[in-house]
Amino acid sequence: MESVYFKRFRMDADLQEAQNLPVLPPGYRFVAWSEGLLDVHARTKYRAFCNELDAIVFPCLGNLEGCRRLMREIRAKAGFLPDATWLIAWGRAPEDLQWCGTIQAVVDRAGVGSIQNIGIIPGHRGKQLGTCLIQQALASFQRQGCRQASLEVTADNASAVRLYQRLGFRRMRTVYKVVEEGTAEQRAAALASY
Ligand SMILES: CC(C)(COP(=O)(O)OP(=O)(O)OC[C@H]1O[C@@H](n2cnc3c(N)ncnc32)[C@H](O)[C@@H]1OP(=O)(O)O)[C@@H](O)C(=O)NCCC(=O)NCCS
Repeated sequence: MESVYFKRFRMDADLQEAQNLPVLPPGYRFVAWSEGLLDVHARTKYRAFCNELDAIVFPCLGNLEGCRRLMREIRAKAGFLPDATWLIAWGRAPEDLQWCGTIQAVVDRAGVGSIQNIGIIPGHRGKQLGTCLIQQALASFQRQGCRQASLEVTADNASAVRLYQRLGFRRMRTVYKVVEEGTAEQRAAALASY
Protein backbone atom coordinates (compact mmCIF):
# COMPACT_ATOMS: atom_id res chain seq x y z
CA MET A 1 0.00 0.00 0.00
CA GLU A 2 1.26 3.51 -0.89
CA SER A 3 1.97 5.97 1.87
CA VAL A 4 1.28 9.69 2.21
CA TYR A 5 3.87 11.89 3.91
CA PHE A 6 2.80 14.91 5.96
CA LYS A 7 5.40 17.57 6.63
CA ARG A 8 5.60 18.65 10.27
CA PHE A 9 7.67 21.22 12.07
CA ARG A 10 9.29 20.72 15.42
CA MET A 11 9.17 24.13 17.08
CA ASP A 12 10.97 25.23 20.25
CA ALA A 13 10.57 28.22 22.55
CA ASP A 14 13.12 29.59 24.98
CA LEU A 15 11.69 29.85 28.50
CA GLN A 16 14.54 31.77 30.11
CA GLU A 17 12.62 35.04 30.02
CA ALA A 18 9.45 35.86 31.92
CA GLN A 19 6.32 34.60 30.21
CA ASN A 20 3.18 36.66 29.68
CA LEU A 21 0.42 35.39 31.93
CA PRO A 22 -2.83 34.52 30.20
CA VAL A 23 -5.89 36.76 30.44
CA LEU A 24 -9.05 34.89 29.48
CA PRO A 25 -11.98 36.76 27.94
CA PRO A 26 -14.99 37.31 30.25
CA GLY A 27 -17.03 34.19 31.00
CA TYR A 28 -14.18 31.72 30.44
CA ARG A 29 -12.15 29.98 33.14
CA PHE A 30 -9.29 27.52 33.40
CA VAL A 31 -10.01 24.12 34.92
CA ALA A 32 -6.99 22.29 36.35
CA TRP A 33 -6.25 18.64 35.68
CA SER A 34 -7.81 15.94 37.82
CA GLU A 35 -8.13 12.23 37.08
CA GLY A 36 -11.90 12.51 36.82
CA LEU A 37 -11.53 14.93 33.90
CA LEU A 38 -9.66 12.56 31.59
CA ASP A 39 -12.79 11.84 29.58
CA VAL A 40 -13.67 15.55 29.35
CA HIS A 41 -10.22 16.16 27.84
CA ALA A 42 -10.80 13.30 25.39
CA ARG A 43 -14.21 14.60 24.31
CA THR A 44 -12.97 18.18 23.97
CA LYS A 45 -9.97 16.99 21.97
CA TYR A 46 -12.28 15.02 19.69
CA ARG A 47 -14.55 18.01 19.09
CA ALA A 48 -11.55 20.26 18.40
CA PHE A 49 -9.79 17.92 15.97
CA CYS A 50 -12.38 15.69 14.31
CA ASN A 51 -12.88 17.89 11.23
CA GLU A 52 -9.34 19.20 10.97
CA LEU A 53 -6.25 18.34 8.97
CA ASP A 54 -4.64 16.63 11.95
CA ALA A 55 -7.43 14.03 11.97
CA ILE A 56 -5.99 12.88 8.62
CA VAL A 57 -2.41 12.99 9.86
CA PHE A 58 -3.35 11.21 13.12
CA PRO A 59 -6.50 9.16 12.43
CA CYS A 60 -7.02 8.57 16.17
CA LEU A 61 -7.94 12.26 16.48
CA GLY A 62 -10.88 11.67 14.17
CA ASN A 63 -12.80 9.42 16.53
CA LEU A 64 -13.76 9.61 20.17
CA GLU A 65 -12.34 6.22 21.15
CA GLY A 66 -9.04 7.20 19.56
CA CYS A 67 -9.00 10.43 21.58
CA ARG A 68 -9.75 8.48 24.77
CA ARG A 69 -6.88 6.08 24.03
CA LEU A 70 -4.54 8.99 23.30
CA MET A 71 -5.48 10.72 26.56
CA ARG A 72 -4.84 7.52 28.53
CA GLU A 73 -1.43 7.19 26.83
CA ILE A 74 -0.50 10.80 27.62
CA ARG A 75 -1.66 10.34 31.23
CA ALA A 76 0.48 7.17 31.54
CA LYS A 77 3.70 8.84 30.34
CA ALA A 78 6.41 9.12 32.98
CA GLY A 79 6.74 12.84 32.38
CA PHE A 80 3.03 13.70 32.38
CA LEU A 81 2.66 17.21 33.81
CA PRO A 82 -0.71 17.70 35.51
CA ASP A 83 0.20 21.32 36.25
CA ALA A 84 0.51 22.08 32.52
CA THR A 85 -2.62 20.17 31.49
CA TRP A 86 -5.73 22.35 31.39
CA LEU A 87 -9.25 22.73 30.14
CA ILE A 88 -11.07 25.96 29.40
CA ALA A 89 -14.74 26.06 30.40
CA TRP A 90 -17.45 28.59 29.67
CA GLY A 91 -20.49 29.04 31.91
CA ARG A 92 -20.91 27.98 35.54
CA ALA A 93 -24.41 26.55 35.80
CA PRO A 94 -24.54 22.88 34.71
CA GLU A 95 -27.04 23.71 31.95
CA ASP A 96 -24.72 26.41 30.54
CA LEU A 97 -21.39 24.63 30.91
CA GLN A 98 -19.37 24.24 27.71
CA TRP A 99 -15.94 22.65 27.50
CA CYS A 100 -14.10 24.83 24.98
CA GLY A 101 -10.46 23.82 24.89
CA THR A 102 -7.83 21.39 26.08
CA ILE A 103 -4.05 21.27 26.36
CA GLN A 104 -1.87 18.48 27.70
CA ALA A 105 1.85 18.46 28.41
CA VAL A 106 4.74 16.28 29.48
CA VAL A 107 8.34 16.96 30.43
CA ASP A 108 10.96 14.84 28.69
CA ARG A 109 14.16 13.37 30.12
CA ALA A 110 16.15 16.41 29.01
CA GLY A 111 13.82 18.67 31.00
CA VAL A 112 12.09 20.11 27.91
CA GLY A 113 8.39 20.88 28.35
CA SER A 114 6.49 19.30 25.49
CA ILE A 115 2.98 20.30 24.44
CA GLN A 116 1.13 17.17 23.33
CA ASN A 117 -2.11 18.49 21.83
CA ILE A 118 -3.92 21.78 21.97
CA GLY A 119 -7.42 22.18 20.60
CA ILE A 120 -10.21 24.73 20.82
CA ILE A 121 -13.66 23.65 19.66
CA PRO A 122 -14.82 25.49 16.52
CA GLY A 123 -17.42 27.81 18.06
CA HIS A 124 -14.91 29.32 20.49
CA ARG A 125 -11.95 29.95 18.17
CA GLY A 126 -10.45 33.34 17.45
CA LYS A 127 -10.98 34.59 21.05
CA GLN A 128 -7.42 34.09 22.23
CA LEU A 129 -8.29 30.87 24.06
CA GLY A 130 -5.55 28.96 22.23
CA THR A 131 -3.08 31.72 23.11
CA CYS A 132 -4.15 31.56 26.77
CA LEU A 133 -3.83 27.76 26.99
CA ILE A 134 -0.29 27.88 25.61
CA GLN A 135 0.68 30.75 27.92
CA GLN A 136 -0.73 28.76 30.84
CA ALA A 137 1.32 25.69 29.88
CA LEU A 138 4.50 27.75 29.34
CA ALA A 139 4.15 29.38 32.78
CA SER A 140 3.84 25.92 34.29
CA PHE A 141 6.92 24.68 32.43
CA GLN A 142 8.84 27.59 33.93
CA ARG A 143 7.61 26.72 37.43
CA GLN A 144 8.90 23.16 36.83
CA GLY A 145 12.31 24.57 35.92
CA CYS A 146 12.12 23.83 32.17
CA ARG A 147 14.35 26.12 30.11
CA GLN A 148 12.76 25.17 26.82
CA ALA A 149 9.34 24.21 25.42
CA SER A 150 8.67 22.21 22.29
CA LEU A 151 5.83 21.02 20.11
CA GLU A 152 5.16 19.58 16.68
CA VAL A 153 2.74 21.04 14.16
CA THR A 154 1.60 19.98 10.70
CA ALA A 155 3.24 22.42 8.25
CA ASP A 156 -0.04 23.11 6.41
CA ASN A 157 -1.78 24.11 9.66
CA ALA A 158 -0.88 27.73 8.93
CA SER A 159 -2.93 29.44 11.65
CA ALA A 160 -1.47 27.13 14.32
CA VAL A 161 2.07 27.79 13.05
CA ARG A 162 1.42 31.57 13.20
CA LEU A 163 -0.02 31.26 16.70
CA TYR A 164 3.08 29.43 17.93
CA GLN A 165 5.41 31.93 16.25
CA ARG A 166 3.59 34.82 17.95
CA LEU A 167 4.24 33.06 21.28
CA GLY A 168 7.97 32.73 20.67
CA PHE A 169 8.24 29.29 19.09
CA ARG A 170 10.76 28.91 16.25
CA ARG A 171 11.03 26.16 13.64
CA MET A 172 13.90 23.87 14.57
CA ARG A 173 13.54 20.96 12.19
CA THR A 174 11.21 19.28 9.72
CA VAL A 175 9.92 15.76 10.24
CA TYR A 176 7.53 13.63 8.22
CA LYS A 177 4.56 11.65 9.48
CA VAL A 178 3.69 8.66 7.32
CA VAL A 179 0.04 7.71 6.88
CA GLU A 180 -1.15 4.78 4.78
CA GLU A 181 -2.77 6.22 1.67
CA GLY A 182 -6.09 4.40 2.10
CA THR A 183 -6.43 5.71 5.63
CA ALA A 184 -5.60 9.28 4.63
CA GLU A 185 -7.97 9.21 1.63
CA GLN A 186 -10.87 7.77 3.62
CA ARG A 187 -10.45 10.40 6.29
CA ALA A 188 -10.12 13.23 3.74
CA ALA A 189 -13.31 12.04 2.00
CA ALA A 190 -15.14 11.91 5.33
CA LEU A 191 -14.05 15.46 6.13
CA ALA A 192 -15.01 16.71 2.67
CA SER A 193 -18.53 15.31 3.01
CA TYR A 194 -19.01 16.81 6.46
C1 LIG B 1 -4.98 26.26 16.47
C2 LIG B 1 -6.08 26.58 17.51
C3 LIG B 1 -5.74 25.84 18.80
C4 LIG B 1 -6.08 28.08 17.75
O1 LIG B 1 -7.01 28.37 18.78
P1 LIG B 1 -7.74 29.83 18.89
O2 LIG B 1 -8.37 29.89 20.23
O3 LIG B 1 -8.56 30.08 17.72
O4 LIG B 1 -6.45 30.76 18.87
P2 LIG B 1 -6.41 32.33 19.20
O5 LIG B 1 -7.76 32.91 19.27
O6 LIG B 1 -5.49 32.48 20.35
O7 LIG B 1 -5.76 33.02 17.95
C5 LIG B 1 -5.23 32.62 16.87
C6 LIG B 1 -5.92 32.75 15.52
O8 LIG B 1 -7.33 32.59 15.42
C7 LIG B 1 -7.80 33.44 14.35
N1 LIG B 1 -9.27 33.46 14.29
C8 LIG B 1 -10.15 34.46 14.43
N2 LIG B 1 -11.41 34.02 14.33
C9 LIG B 1 -11.31 32.70 14.12
C10 LIG B 1 -12.27 31.68 13.95
N3 LIG B 1 -13.58 31.91 13.98
N4 LIG B 1 -11.83 30.41 13.77
C11 LIG B 1 -10.50 30.14 13.75
N5 LIG B 1 -9.56 31.10 13.90
C12 LIG B 1 -9.96 32.36 14.09
C13 LIG B 1 -7.08 34.63 14.74
O9 LIG B 1 -7.12 35.64 13.80
C14 LIG B 1 -5.68 34.00 14.81
O10 LIG B 1 -5.28 33.56 13.53
P3 LIG B 1 -4.18 34.18 12.59
O11 LIG B 1 -2.90 33.68 13.10
O12 LIG B 1 -4.57 33.56 11.32
O13 LIG B 1 -4.31 35.65 12.62
C15 LIG B 1 -7.49 26.19 17.00
O14 LIG B 1 -7.69 26.75 15.75
C16 LIG B 1 -7.73 24.70 16.89
O15 LIG B 1 -8.09 24.05 17.86
N6 LIG B 1 -7.54 24.09 15.71
C17 LIG B 1 -7.83 22.69 15.49
C18 LIG B 1 -6.88 21.80 16.25
C19 LIG B 1 -5.45 22.13 15.89
O16 LIG B 1 -5.07 22.22 14.72
N7 LIG B 1 -4.61 22.27 16.93
C20 LIG B 1 -3.20 22.58 16.78
C21 LIG B 1 -2.47 21.32 16.59
S1 LIG B 1 -0.72 21.61 16.49
